[in-house]
Amino acid sequence: MKKLMAANWKMYKTWDDARATAQSLADLTASKLPDDREVLIFPPFTALKGVSDVFGPLAGFSTGGQDFYTEAEGAFTGEISPAMLLDAGAAYGLTGHSERRHVLGEDDALVGRKTAYGLVSGLKVILCVGEKIDERRAGQVEAVLRRQLDVGLKDVPRDVNPADLSVAYEPVWAIGTGEVAGPGEIVEAHACIRKILQAEFGEKGNKIRILYGGSVKPANCAEIIALDNVDGVLVGGASLLSESFSQIVLA
Ligand code: PGA
Repeated sequence: MKKLMAANWKMYKTWDDARATAQSLADLTASKLPDDREVLIFPPFTALKGVSDVFGPLAGFSTGGQDFYTEAEGAFTGEISPAMLLDAGAAYGLTGHSERRHVLGEDDALVGRKTAYGLVSGLKVILCVGEKIDERRAGQVEAVLRRQLDVGLKDVPRDVNPADLSVAYEPVWAIGTGEVAGPGEIVEAHACIRKILQAEFGEKGNKIRILYGGSVKPANCAEIIALDNVDGVLVGGASLLSESFSQIVLA
């Protein structure tokens, strides 16, 4: 299983800045990228085609859309479809990110519909899950992960190719705060997610990648990526500069 080193650029970067950062990242990492690593960037929609074109000739580099709707086309002002993301060069789509859940108000059911629809539409999907700080303090981590995964994966076809589905564990309290989860917390949460994936998908559950996200930076990436059941990282703030994200990719 290749480790997936993913960057979520959120609502940052214009066309020129996005392409320049992607090109610089490629220059810093492409010739040294180990065979067991993959690089993925989620640019804003307006720069998706630009970054996809930069990555086009490079093995092991791909792009994804940060969100998508559950229809191919139609009167859905402001939305974008998996087919449109694929047309712009994306291979991946993101669902259930904490900002979509807690800032934009998406519930588990919508996240689940998006996850299943993205997969049947030909995207590889990364489903994000994670507890809020009050849920952790109340001892509800496992219950929250179980609920988000039960609903989030409910309609995913059981014959899904495990290489097409990943889960990102992103504790809400660690996103953009500088407060990274400790190794024990990460290992425990990832083991819990693995158990749920095995129960849902059998043997195939061992081949679904589980990424960690939340204040990953060059200084902590090597330690995190070496933990049990950590098959990659999803990085926000520290992915915006190519120097910083290149160190993470190669950590
Ligand atoms: P962060 O964001 O690395 O800035 O904490 C992670 C994410 O939102 O995916």
